[in-house]
Amino acid sequence: MALMPIIIAPDPRLKIKTKPVDNVDDSVRALMDDMLETMYAANGIGLAAPQVGDTRSVIVVDCARQDDGPAPIRMANPHIIAVSSDDNAHEEGCLSLPEHYADVVRPESITLRYLDENNKVLEMDADGILATCIQHEMDHLEGILFVDHISALKRNMILRKLKKVKKQATED
Ligand code: NI
Repeated sequence: MALMPIIIAPDPRLKIKTKPVDNVDDSVRALMDDMLETMYAANGIGLAAPQVGDTRSVIVVDCARQDDGPAPIRMANPHIIAVSSDDNAHEEGCLSLPEHYADVVRPESITLRYLDENNKVLEMDADGILATCIQHEMDHLEGILFVDHISALKRNMILRKLKKVKKQATED
């Protein structure tokens, strides 16, 4: 396993549409494991392949409570097959937009289908924080960031601040 650098917004690599995985093989499994290690090291609860510069349709999440121990979920080609009619607003953050948070409204619960690390098709029902997290990570696979769900005013303010931090980092 290896830690991967996390791409910080704004960056064109975060705006790509990923390609579906044909087959979850050793190479995809290695990506999933590296992404999990990277996510845990950064204290995140989810990570999508574009955030580490990979164009495959892969996400990892772990929304377990700290005292429950790890519960990693590895997914390739996730797609939503049903959503609840009820929406919920949750405060979201993102490892690619460090130190910025905003309330995002999404369906409260979802049913999704995906390929697991053994290339098996699975279905899952998710609600609460897990549903929010999975939808957030799936957005990344379409080049969508959580700030794309909030007002342009707030989005531009956050992206401007991130750009400034990156500029300072390269000048130092
Ligand atoms: Ni994110």
